[in-house]
Amino acid sequence: MTLSSCEQIAGVPSARAAQVAPPERLARVRTFHPRRGRLSGRHLDALDRLWPRFGLTIPTGNTPGRHTPNVGAPARNTTDASAPGWSAPDKDAPGWSAPDEGAPGWSAPDKDAPGWSAPDKDAPGWSVPDEGAPIDLVALFGRRAPVVLEIGSGMGDATAAMAAADPGRDYLAVEVHTPGIANLLALTERHGLTNVRIARGDALDLVRYLLPPDALDAVHAFFPDPWPKPRHHKRRLIQPEHVALLRSRLVPGGTLHCATDWAEYAESMLQTLTADPGLVNPYADYALRPAHRPVTKFERRGTAAGRRIFDLIFHRR
Ligand SMILES: C[S@@+](CC[C@H](N)C(=O)[O-])C[C@H]1O[C@@H](n2cnc3c(N)ncnc32)[C@H](O)[C@@H]1O
Repeated sequence: MTLSSCEQIAGVPSARAAQVAPPERLARVRTFHPRRGRLSGRHLDALDRLWPRFGLTIPTGNTPGRHTPNVGAPARNTTDASAPGWSAPDKDAPGWSAPDEGAPGWSAPDKDAPGWSAPDKDAPGWSVPDEGAPIDLVALFGRRAPVVLEIGSGMGDATAAMAAADPGRDYLAVEVHTPGIANLLALTERHGLTNVRIARGDALDLVRYLLPPDALDAVHAFFPDPWPKPRHHKRRLIQPEHVALLRSRLVPGGTLHCATDWAEYAESMLQTLTADPGLVNPYADYALRPAHRPVTKFERRGTAAGRRIFDLIFHRR
């Protein structure tokens, strides 16, 4: 099956969604701010040329009965209605809603744009075994190696630096912010990295629907949006149900590493992670900052504002 077919998981019948996620989990929580960003010429170039090789669209329609065409890919070459297995969305299905064309970074495929080409569905690694099955990470990266999931990779500098310093592991970055995705694509090419892939969309959908249990060596959540207002705490990435979900995709002994410059969120993270029965903390509370975690833009911002940086490193039992 091709990447296009993978994207068609958006149209997988409700039975599959029901199988992988109990109904109470299906309420969608947005942990990210919808934000627009300018795409420089360099970014557009990176998206056009590199997305077909390194990019993976997370379908947005995994709610039972909701079918949407793929509108998630930031590159111009997105929906391939002629791909095998593609079928038009069932607009009469209960819960169907029109694609979110106002989503940040979304733009209609411009097939007349110079340099546009159809996605290379034969590119190595871009396949998943079966319609509706989780991603085949071995096929995705073209080898069998431990996989690190980088949630909210931002502009991608930290992901690229870690992947370059850690060639024995594969890095799957997931981000919704198109300029950040484009920047990481460009960095991947510039540094000749072969162990980076970039998923565009909601990390929670990726983990819930497309990653099998016991798939990840580590999950990184570096400087997730703090959502400081109490009424927004429900949007935080690190909360009990999300932690249980992330932990279920780790291999036994695998690492969940969070970092934040927001003291109150750090405290809440510590409570939540400590309360998860499947996780163990090798530290008394906060971890020492590991040398392998590069300083990120958001960390620099926090430090400049005089905030302490907290690392939390837990392992799956
Ligand atoms: C505060 S920034 C931190 C970026 C980067 N980790 C750093 O330290 O510079 C948080 C990032 O997480 C992304 N994000 C938040 N929730 C997400 C989700 N559910 N799926 C994918 N990306 C998400 C946001 O778009 C944003 O770029």
